[in-house]
Amino acid sequence: MTGKVHIFNHPLIQHKLTMMRDKNTGTKEFRELLDEISMLMVYEVTRDLPTEEVNVETPLCWTKAQVLAGMPIGVIPILRAGLGMVDGIQRLIPNAKVGHIGLYRDPETLQPVEYYCKLPADSQQRYLFVLDPMLATGGSASAAISFIKQRGCSNISLVNIIAVPEGIEKIQKDHPDVNIYVAALDEKLNDHGYIVPGLGDAGDRLFGTK
Ligand code: PRP
Ligand code: URA
Repeated sequence: MTGKVHIFNHPLIQHKLTMMRDKNTGTKEFRELLDEISMLMVYEVTRDLPTEEVNVETPLCWTKAQVLAGMPIGVIPILRAGLGMVDGIQRLIPNAKVGHIGLYRDPETLQPVEYYCKLPADSQQRYLFVLDPMLATGGSASAAISFIKQRGCSNISLVNIIAVPEGIEKIQKDHPDVNIYVAALDEKLNDHGYIVPGLGDAGDRLFGTK
């Protein structure tokens, strides 16, 4: 079994992503675009969530209608850049609880280094969406998913804005049970592990640190 890869080619998402890629887009606009794309993506990411029938009284009569059923949702941003995806998703799913995983990629080895992990206490009973705008070598996302699984969780999906084939292959190899949702599949990594064409360093552009 291999996780499915969903690529969003919706015109609104592609338009906003093009603006994010533009090197002249400043921090404020970059943050707003990431927020908006994340909100648009979660609409599709949640497409297969189960629903159940309830009775509801409209101003005219009683009727049967659908509400979300099954496990609630947890979102787990990978610090730092994943933070920029939380608000947009919570706007559509206000009850989603938020866990945090702190990882940075060592610039020399490109290996992920963990510095923080705090998940909702009931994470094992939730659908979990791991959030990170960039899936480059896949090392950070794979390590984050491993940490989450070590804490007894399953039902994990990975939501990225831009991925490259290397990153997708790593997740599919390490975590074949995880579905991947991306707004764009880019061409390659450069010698420093940056996605080309990409959008640069997502964390720095989001928080204005460079
Ligand atoms: C970036 C990005 C991912 C990671 C992707 O984070 O947000 O977490 O790199 O690269 P990988 O797939 O090769 O692991 P970074 O390490 O720059 O940390 P930051 O978010 O704190 O800036
Ligand atoms: N992390 C980023 O922020 N950008 C990339 O292109 C690769 C990893």
